[in-house]
Amino acid sequence: MRIAMIGTGYVGLVSGACFADFGHQVTCVDQDADKVAALRRGEIPIFEPGLDALVAANVKAARLSFTTDLAGPVADAEAVFIAVGTPSRRGDGHADLSYVYAAAREIGVALKDFTVVITKSTVPVGTGDEIERVIREVNPSADVAVASNPEFLREGAAIRDFKFPDRIVIGTSDDRARKVLGDIYRPLSLNQAPLMFTARRTAELIKYAANAFLATKITFINEIADLSEKVGADIQEVARGIGLDNRIGTKFLHAGPGYGGSCFPKDTLALMKTARDANAPIELIETTVRVNSARKQKMAQKIIAALDGNVKGKTIAVLGLTFKPNTDDMRDAPALEIVPTLQAEGARVRAFDPEGMSEAKHMLKDVNFASGPYDCVQGADAVVIITEWDQFRALDFDRIKDALKAPVVIDLRNVYRPEEMRAKGFTYVSVGRA
Ligand SMILES: NC(=O)c1ccc[n+]([C@@H]2O[C@H](COP(=O)([O-])OP(=O)(O)OC[C@H]3O[C@@H](n4cnc5c(N)ncnc54)[C@H](O)[C@@H]3O)[C@@H](O)[C@H]2O)c1
Repeated sequence: MRIAMIGTGYVGLVSGACFADFGHQVTCVDQDADKVAALRRGEIPIFEPGLDALVAANVKAARLSFTTDLAGPVADAEAVFIAVGTPSRRGDGHADLSYVYAAAREIGVALKDFTVVITKSTVPVGTGDEIERVIREVNPSADVAVASNPEFLREGAAIRDFKFPDRIVIGTSDDRARKVLGDIYRPLSLNQAPLMFTARRTAELIKYAANAFLATKITFINEIADLSEKVGADIQEVARGIGLDNRIGTKFLHAGPGYGGSCFPKDTLALMKTARDANAPIELIETTVRVNSARKQKMAQKIIAALDGNVKGKTIAVLGLTFKPNTDDMRDAPALEIVPTLQAEGARVRAFDPEGMSEAKHMLKDVNFASGPYDCVQGADAVVIITEWDQFRALDFDRIKDALKAPVVIDLRNVYRPEEMRAKGFTYVSVGRA
């Protein structure tokens, strides 16, 4: 299959490289000339474990290439995937579809023979209808089928998720599109990944419903964590105790500073808007959005309280800035709200993150960036763990205690055990544990 992937970000680059690895011929297109030039030099613009080797191998095998030119690869392709960004629209929280429609317009003009145009970007219900309308408007004779194929990969485990998905959802009622997408994903069907065909609008809604459910699950356990703190229960055990029930499941039950990242915040908000527009408001999601956005402030207040209610002039060492480990993605990371709140209260912040610092430097002001966790805590009044990178899971606390001005640890990811930390002489504050 000849595939054009429009948009070479986290999703487009991983999907393009994985499709090439299945043996398809893939051209990744991006309008960002610097990104394309870097990829052509063999540099990967994002941090995603295993991606550099996968890209290099498929470029070497001449199955994967990069360009800023959309028209050529689209004219040649049997399948064109749209994987451009769909951020929150400033002001109202609806998904900003301007990148999607701009891409659709360019694709429409370039189409030649029968082509399936597939939306991989996360887009509100009905967007496929509009993409089809745009394409037919710019190219009335185009022989095209527009399908939806939402992506469920997680940053940090993206290649594994793409190659061993729980399911592949394909929204189309066009038989030719079914055949093309069936062929593209055939290598995965051999691994028995369930291929699920639905109507286009159903596929679009599946993606939002999945993300909103997961975001709600996180928010649920966070609220139970707050209650645990008040009543003397241990949230780790509560989560395990409910998670072992198969109907509930253990995943996404880790209490912490609230969900962030490039998907859950914008997708919950967009679903909320879609539901209101359709006159079917989803109060559960509205509450999830509200509770989660208040949570980051709550975490900042937790840190301040651990420092006797006053952080003025104090130095706080922050370990972990990205919204989760194994990514350099800083979009909507809880740190982006927690750190400025501490600074507004007069704290000096020193921070270390294994992969997120170059991005964080553009998004946070007046932060002192350290070269490692021990450099970060030197002379600080407290240390806060915001992201549970592996390298923060086995810290040498004797060394940290010597380096800190005061032995105060605020662990927003419950990486350590309260009794052990107290035995080492720390004032230890975590989430959902008395
Ligand atoms: N990041 C994730 O973990 C994830 C997971 C599942 C789904 N998604 C969805 O996938 C979509 C893409 O997300 P992402 O994180 O990869 O975004 P991203 O911002 O990392 O990448 C988008 C890329 O598209 C390019 N682009 C925009 N308009 C273009 C055009 N007209 N022609 C060519 N290139 C263009 C941009 O330059 C950018 O490189 C979003 O809708 C997102 O919600 C993301």
